[in-house]
Amino acid sequence: MPRIKVLNIVGARPQIIKASAISRAIRKHFSDAISEVLVHTGQHYDKEMSEVFFDELEIHKPDYNLGAGSASHGKQTSMMITGIEEVIIKEKPNCVILYGDTNSSLAGAIAASKLHCPVVHIEAGLRSFNKTMPEEINRIMCDHASTLLFAPTNAAFKNLMNEGFRPENSPPYTISNPKIYLTGDIMYDNSLYYSELAEKKKSGLLDKLSDKKDGYVLVTIHRDSNTDDPDRLSAILSTIMRLADDSGIHCIMPFHPRTVVSLNTKLKELHRELCKSTKVSIIPPVSYLEMILLEKHCRMIITDSGGVQKESHFFKKPCIVLRKETEWVELVLNGTAKLVDADSKRLKEEFVHFMELNEGLDYPAFYGDGKTAGFILGEILQMFENR
Ligand code: UD1
Ligand code: UDP
Repeated sequence: MPRIKVLNIVGARPQIIKASAISRAIRKHFSDAISEVLVHTGQHYDKEMSEVFFDELEIHKPDYNLGAGSASHGKQTSMMITGIEEVIIKEKPNCVILYGDTNSSLAGAIAASKLHCPVVHIEAGLRSFNKTMPEEINRIMCDHASTLLFAPTNAAFKNLMNEGFRPENSPPYTISNPKIYLTGDIMYDNSLYYSELAEKKKSGLLDKLSDKKDGYVLVTIHRDSNTDDPDRLSAILSTIMRLADDSGIHCIMPFHPRTVVSLNTKLKELHRELCKSTKVSIIPPVSYLEMILLEKHCRMIITDSGGVQKESHFFKKPCIVLRKETEWVELVLNGTAKLVDADSKRLKEEFVHFMELNEGLDYPAFYGDGKTAGFILGEILQMFENR
């Protein structure tokens, strides 16, 4: 009979992927001690944004799907809060686990903390210092509603200390006496675990792209600051199309649905040109194993995604970041990620720089030893044993 029950909250694509690391560690090392209930808020709902990950990563299907779907921030988040509150009251978990910085994380933080259910935040302490990002507000709120905070990097740990969290706090830990940890990153656990598996699993996608193996650039764009601003999106995509034409290298773009919606509604002419280009392939979102393959075999990555920035490092690929700032500052300091915002000139310069630079880039171990999920679960268990 497991000693404690954890309630995992996921909703967006990267959270399903992250939760799979925790689920796997529970199954492997803690099945006698920890039972898991999985709540999917329904924030992401298209097959390729949600179901595909449950099938591929062998996570058990959600115990609850709240069906929140897409809406304004307030509507979407409030619907999730209501649903999560009901589940917490019914399931009476020992704690709620939140991943990252989405509206699903925020809803979990509000519902759980108001019910005095301890919150565990994985990926705590990350800051862009740009409060116009919805994710920045979500991160701050989640951290300050948490009892156990797992920071994946030195920078994240320091950010927490700068906001008043004290590493010397001693048990019993509570929302008013929280515990902060410096751990690795559970996404690194996943990339190690799935890297070989992805190679073994025949991928139709890579077969189709086989002539481009090692000779393509991988591009993802989904951040609201880029997709919802036609000037920025147009500057980025026109520049990438031109660079692909001039250099002859193919650009493969598995786009989030919101990027395609923006192209279809706000930039129809550019969308037509991109579809006609022989050097650009806009494709639907791919599965995680396919994404790993695309990352492992590409020449470089251009992205505004947080997760994909890190994966560029895991798979030792240079990365151009389509943002003004990043939470993963160690990548920029390391020189393997370059912030270009939506600036055509800087994008071109860094593209040329990384195309010419094949050797000499170093990818130090910033994100732990691949066993972070097990460490986190051990600490959660200890917290309840100390009570
Ligand atoms: C959300 C997170 C973001 C994270 C991203 C991961 C927030 C505020 N943002 O952004 O931090 O990086 O997930 O991918 O929580 N849509 C579909 N099908 C889906 C899901 C979304 O078509 O299955 C479209 C809808 O038009 C929707 C739009 O995408 O309005 C935005 O979806 P939403 O979940 O609100 O935010 P994301 O951009 O996905
Ligand atoms: N990802 C995927 N298929 C895709 C694009 C991304 O499996 O078509 C994975 C990617 O490998 C990473 C995660 O989704 O693990 C990142 O999610 P996303 O970029 O949507 O969000 P962010 O990390 O910026 O919050």
